[in-house]
Amino acid sequence: MKVIVVGKGGREHAIVRALKDSSSAPEVYAWPGSDAIFELATRAEGVSGVPDLLNFITQEGIHLCVAGEESYLMKGLADACEAMGISCWGPKVAGALLEGSKEYAKEFMTRHGIPTGHYESVNSAEEAREAIQSYPCVLKFDGLAAGKGVAVCADAAASDAFLDEVFASKRFGDGKLLVEEFLEGPEVSIFCMVADGGYQILCPARDYKRLEDGDGGPNTGGMGAVASPQLIEAELRHRIEKEIVCPTVEGLQKDGTPYRGFLYFGLMLTETGPKVIEYNCRFGDPECQAVMPLIQGDLAGYLLKAASGVLDPSYFSFEDRWSVCLVLASAGYPASSRSGDVIRGLNEVGDGARVYHAGTRKGESGEFETHGGRVLAVVAQGDSREEAVERAYESGKSVTFDGAQRRGDIGRLHFS
Ligand code: AMP
Ligand code: GLY
Repeated sequence: MKVIVVGKGGREHAIVRALKDSSSAPEVYAWPGSDAIFELATRAEGVSGVPDLLNFITQEGIHLCVAGEESYLMKGLADACEAMGISCWGPKVAGALLEGSKEYAKEFMTRHGIPTGHYESVNSAEEAREAIQSYPCVLKFDGLAAGKGVAVCADAAASDAFLDEVFASKRFGDGKLLVEEFLEGPEVSIFCMVADGGYQILCPARDYKRLEDGDGGPNTGGMGAVASPQLIEAELRHRIEKEIVCPTVEGLQKDGTPYRGFLYFGLMLTETGPKVIEYNCRFGDPECQAVMPLIQGDLAGYLLKAASGVLDPSYFSFEDRWSVCLVLASAGYPASSRSGDVIRGLNEVGDGARVYHAGTRKGESGEFETHGGRVLAVVAQGDSREEAVERAYESGKSVTFDGAQRRGDIGRLHFS
């Protein structure tokens, strides 16, 4: 079997590795990929865009295209695959809109009775100011904004500053804004495989979004993650399934939006129950890096069958352990990032730990160096959360580069 992964970050590095480790031992290709990914997967040579990619897939006789990143799905990767008879794991544009438009997602949740915060959709800063009832409030740009389109505002100064970015500087381009109710509680990421009316809930995870220990500092793309089948209690899991996952999958069916791919539910566990903060039409990053090492079995075989509409849970299972992912970010992140710092100690990470590269490249000397904000993740497992934390930090000790930033409490700071 031949499979190609589309994307270039840490999530895709982890997916490539999990596919390589599948018991069906597929040949794995990647595009656009990265130097680290190409140590495991074959580069799709000569491909400069989706039309080239589809030709490459056909010429090489690749059986399955796995979409890692949402941007290609929003540009119609899955629709184009379908038109050419290529199996694709990832939804068509109509399904990807659950992530691509926050207003569409809110209307979907309202239509199907899925718990989420109240919201109002506005077209100008004046309308936004009228819609803000109290602080803190949450402002969200409607379209894709590379994780920068959400502001949790403590006061009018903060909301005015964000409204300026959206409507005066048009930082994200043209688009609407949602003024959303502020929800309180711990956040949890739930991932599902969805194929038409069927779904399979995967191992849950928690993402650490803030830059600094104790959940302080600015929001980032994620400074670490912890994952385990034991992360949430069975009762809560059932509630999430009944109130959120099931009605979402049924809603897609009722709306005539067939969906095949990963579906990510970003949830807030509020006092009145779990509520959806956002949907994503792909796996979480860096949660994926924590979840993938727990998979045992044949993920590649599963996804090939799933892309044809059949979810067969006998293909793989999750180890009933804990996995901790510790992200190292470059100097200046998240406001900026620094490239070209040589990464030392990559060969000294302990047995059983893994390093997934997000923003690295090979320098002239052949050594990996930083090439982006979030640089890499060190991931390790243990029988308990504490053991996994110790192993991840111990393994990550040897990995350094100038200006490296890392949190000291990933997996330690738990749900309170
Ligand atoms: P999103 O891109 O929608 O996931 O939002 C990014 C982050 O902003 C989330 O992970 C939350 O920490 C925070 N956030 C988003 N929406 C809300 C909300 N309604 N209430 C409180 N925090 C939120
Ligand atoms: N971990 C957050 C995200 O992938 O959007």
